Amino acid sequence: MNATAKAITDVKKSLGKSVYVLGHHYQCDTVVAHCDKCGDSLELSRCVSDIEAAHIVFCGVYFMGETAALLARPGQSVHLPDLTSNCAMSMMTPETIARKVLQQLTGRGRKIIPLAYVNTTLDIKALVGEYGGATCTSANAGKMLAWALDQGGSVLFLPDKNLGRNTAKKLGLSQNDQQILRIGKNGLTDTDGIDRKLLLWPGCCCIHTRFTSEMVAAAREKHPGCRILAHPEARPEVIERCDAAGSTAFLIREAGEAAEKNPDSTLYIATEYNLVRRLAARHKERCRILPLTKSLCGDMAKVTAKKLLRTLTNISANKSVPIKVDIARIEPARLSLQRMLKVCGQ
Ligand code: 13P
Ligand code: SF4
Repeated sequence: MNATAKAITDVKKSLGKSVYVLGHHYQCDTVVAHCDKCGDSLELSRCVSDIEAAHIVFCGVYFMGETAALLARPGQSVHLPDLTSNCAMSMMTPETIARKVLQQLTGRGRKIIPLAYVNTTLDIKALVGEYGGATCTSANAGKMLAWALDQGGSVLFLPDKNLGRNTAKKLGLSQNDQQILRIGKNGLTDTDGIDRKLLLWPGCCCIHTRFTSEMVAAAREKHPGCRILAHPEARPEVIERCDAAGSTAFLIREAGEAAEKNPDSTLYIATEYNLVRRLAARHKERCRILPLTKSLCGDMAKVTAKKLLRTLTNISANKSVPIKVDIARIEPARLSLQRMLKVCGQ
């Protein structure tokens, strides 16, 4: 154990039950080693209400910490080891523009249910709550899109057009049922196709859009018979060429199954590199797990063991500044999250 790891262990021990450390699976091993719970974004949102500690330290990107702060108990505080670790995709839906788009779409009394990926700001979650919509994660996007379509009217899915299109395909929606919106700073710049059932915000994750069809073809050539899995933030044409796609939790499960049921097989995983590397190490005696390409989320990587130590030390000295959420946005934003948790059985 190095000096930083030892110092984290010591300060965590001295804080005892007053602190609980959460971490997303995309965190590096030296951070994950100190997490009381690791999970994907759905698992982490779900577990917050069961945490009794006064301080939650969230090793992940800003929107994840903000979501935890929204779901935390009164008096509980949520701390991020690096407040600048911001998911780039969550910044692709400025609230002022999304509000204009919703006003334009609903102007003549048309019903639009907004469905926001949790990778969004508090302001967007509040806007979605205000318009009767909900949030979703990659693990429940299918269930939540079906729910939103069931409300009568059309659905505005934001911000990830790829997750939206991949989920729509699973539900059997045709291309003619969908439209990727064209948007400028004053809202819609083109009204072509806006009468369709599913309207998609034109955002995406640059970590997952790095995977290409050529990479899939090259992997199959290099390891004939290999299995290739992808996260649904990857482009639809890549997903089409893979064997299966699913959330972080799904990818972890599949890696475990490959190791157990298909020893000596080769599994490629198209998702964030920290996770793929960890799965490869975990199952290295049983099967070969490879990244489709090494795609690291730079924002997740901003959280380091040293920053975690600084946060814990500051908490113990009463000097850590927790995430603050705008009081006016709390209720509608919480509503959009609670709708998701209710539909998905919590
Ligand atoms: P999960 O919902 O699978 O945890 O993914 C979150 C994320 O940011 C993926 O890039
Ligand atoms: Fe955001 Fe993409 Fe990083 Fe996930 S991998 S946190 S979607 S930038």
